[in-house]
Amino acid sequence: MSAKIIDGNAIAKELRGHIREEVDAWVKQGRRLPGLAVILVGNDPASEIYVKGKRRDCDEVGFHSIVHHVSANVTQSDLQALIGSLNEDSSIDGILVQTPLPTHIDQDRVIDEIDPKKDVDGFHPYNIGRLALRRPTLRSCTPKGVMLLLEHIGCSFKGLDAAVIGASNHVGRPMGLELLLAGCTVTTAHKFTKDTAAKIRLADIVVSAVGKPGLVPVEWIKPGAIVIDIGITRGANNKLYGDIQFDAVKEVASWITPVPGGVGPMTRIALLQNTMQASRDNQGF
Ligand code: GUN
Repeated sequence: MSAKIIDGNAIAKELRGHIREEVDAWVKQGRRLPGLAVILVGNDPASEIYVKGKRRDCDEVGFHSIVHHVSANVTQSDLQALIGSLNEDSSIDGILVQTPLPTHIDQDRVIDEIDPKKDVDGFHPYNIGRLALRRPTLRSCTPKGVMLLLEHIGCSFKGLDAAVIGASNHVGRPMGLELLLAGCTVTTAHKFTKDTAAKIRLADIVVSAVGKPGLVPVEWIKPGAIVIDIGITRGANNKLYGDIQFDAVKEVASWITPVPGGVGPMTRIALLQNTMQASRDNQGF
């Protein structure tokens, strides 16, 4: 079997078109535009590229967007004060603090400061808690983007065995919660897991979110499984690498995402959808 390749760019383009139509309809109804504020700390080149992409997406769908580019030496209290002022700004529906942050900044305290209603990254403990309790509101963008991809290919979810590799707060854990909510039986593999290969090989859906190029060999994959690669590592040659050994795995999987062009564009769609949702709630309709 040779897997069908899931084209995240094409799906994202279609979904951006739907968002644009919705925004145009809002404008005709006299509503204000959804507003996204991005805070970029310092001069990490990869973060600057990601933020530029988010800005471009906002322009394409007609959102109001601003970027606060602050010095790498910003203090914890000044950063939190900026978030506080955006929490109060009625033109802003969503606040995103681009990570990674400089090491002198406590990232958890920064996230805690964001009004959960404006937490369009879905990282705030309130929003992760809502997902855990089966009452999701603003859902973490990458796991939500993966669910959109799986829905797009007609995945049936209920009763399927799903394996998530990686247990990070912002990706692996909420990914497991999403799949559990959809009715899968979920296994999360992490650095203490014994015999990872045997556990992953039972899975109908495999999602890898580690960031180790080539971590997942074809021997870990059950024939016919759906394989989703969240891991993105930039090599010294500036090329992007996923966690999955793509060329071999595509010969046994039923569906597979490429890197780049798989999950990445869908993370950005989830951010736009979350901003739209926050705006609808903030404007009370
Ligand atoms: N850095 C890389 N991806 C992301 C993302 O989706 N959100 C935030 N806040 N930072 C990131």
